[in-house]
Amino acid sequence: MTTRFSRRSFAQLVGATAGAVSLPSWAAGLAQDAPKTDGNGRHFPQGFLWGSATASYQVEGAVNEEGRGPSIWDIFSHTPGKTHGGDTGDVADDHFHRYKEDIQLMKDLGLKCYRFSVAWPRVFPTGTGVANPKGLDFYNRMLDVLLAAGIEPFCTLYHWDLPQPLEDKGGWRNRDTAKAFADYAGYTAGKLSDRVKHFMTMNEIRTFTELGYGNGVHAPGLKLDKKGLAQVNHHAVLGHGLAVQAIRAKAKAGTKVGLADNLTTATPVFEVPEHIEAATKAMREENAMYLTVIQEGRYTDLYLKGLGAAAPTTTPEEMQAIGSKIDFVGINVYTASFVRADGSEKGYEMVKQPASYPHMFSEWLSIGPEALYWAPKLVGKIWNVKEMYITENGTSSADVPTAEGKILDTDRVMYLRNYLTQLQRAVSEGVPVHGYFCWSLMDNYEWADGYEKRFGIHYVDFKTQKRTPKLSAEFYKAVIARNGLA
Ligand code: BG6
Repeated sequence: MTTRFSRRSFAQLVGATAGAVSLPSWAAGLAQDAPKTDGNGRHFPQGFLWGSATASYQVEGAVNEEGRGPSIWDIFSHTPGKTHGGDTGDVADDHFHRYKEDIQLMKDLGLKCYRFSVAWPRVFPTGTGVANPKGLDFYNRMLDVLLAAGIEPFCTLYHWDLPQPLEDKGGWRNRDTAKAFADYAGYTAGKLSDRVKHFMTMNEIRTFTELGYGNGVHAPGLKLDKKGLAQVNHHAVLGHGLAVQAIRAKAKAGTKVGLADNLTTATPVFEVPEHIEAATKAMREENAMYLTVIQEGRYTDLYLKGLGAAAPTTTPEEMQAIGSKIDFVGINVYTASFVRADGSEKGYEMVKQPASYPHMFSEWLSIGPEALYWAPKLVGKIWNVKEMYITENGTSSADVPTAEGKILDTDRVMYLRNYLTQLQRAVSEGVPVHGYFCWSLMDNYEWADGYEKRFGIHYVDFKTQKRTPKLSAEFYKAVIARNGLA
């Protein structure tokens, strides 16, 4: 089983009774910035951006086309024993060739926006140096069709496919990778910002550092010690910060920069003031080396104290770059990490889930819809964030087609309905979440799980590449059409 991380959310300081909602004083500013709902308790604000997300290595295939170089995932997935059944992303969804058909699926759903990622090794096949002249051709073709369909693109610049030649020089262990990433990010945003308004530097820093360099379950498959991992984390957030600066320098004026972060979604174990306060503290501390340092430009005292001699080596200039102001925060939410107040120095305890706690088809995916209320609420409160997106939310399911070829994924529908109910609760209180991206548009290459786990709302027959909408696609289409859950 792949060990994963929880990500979550905050509060009922608010009397959230139907009709009259009284906001606490800190939420007053948030409410002003948030788009207005239409007054119906089950609806989302007008203009809410309904989207879906994918990532380059998980869907594109075509790994040797148009000058693409190898990424760490090509090497890792071709290494025996690293992925389920030896599955690779060589073909994946063949989206590189079938993007028009996939954009038609988006149109059929009524999507307002689509989150995709650019493969760094297509643009710079060795990671640095001279750009591949064909490197952005695919994205240019895809963006033109997407925009013609009236769908707004959101672009992630790093969804884990590091060029292998950079890994050969130490990958994220090497500080130079942060600089190389910034150069690539600035170059790409400079070319695409005539059509893309929102760029996310990185997807889930915690996952690619801790799984890639901590427990070795993801590429490049290393198991570093505490100090080594802390330094990798530091280089990754530095790469993010330098990329923010490079994008601002190279992209068209008005371009917005953020990231897609998988927070530890600190969620009060139940909603009473002391646990809410504990969850607020946990949100900062448990994310100290990711969103907290990015928002505050410094590591928390407790984080550094906890690491002791294993603390990363840093400079004041690096810390300043890491804290570069971002325009929006994207949050990937799958699970909730429950928190309760205790009398410790930290002021909170992370509550371990009992073996009987329910989960979805992936064992790591425990069910915690409240996270979709608390994560944006706490992030908004702690760092006064005015623009947020749920950049991923979704689930795996067994997805066995019926004899007639239907995929009646009632478990995914249940999951999405419950999570969206909590998101609706947040936006109705004025939490400024502007959009939501369902993970994923279609079944794809799920990293170490290969093709075994399906997260799509469209079923993909990987033998024929035929796409079939699941029941969850019908559900999501209805949500989008009504801009709400009723
Ligand atoms: C998210 C990633 O964390 O989880 C996606 O950003 C991924 O890329 C999704 O596909 C599901 O995770 P997994 O590990 O079960 O495939």
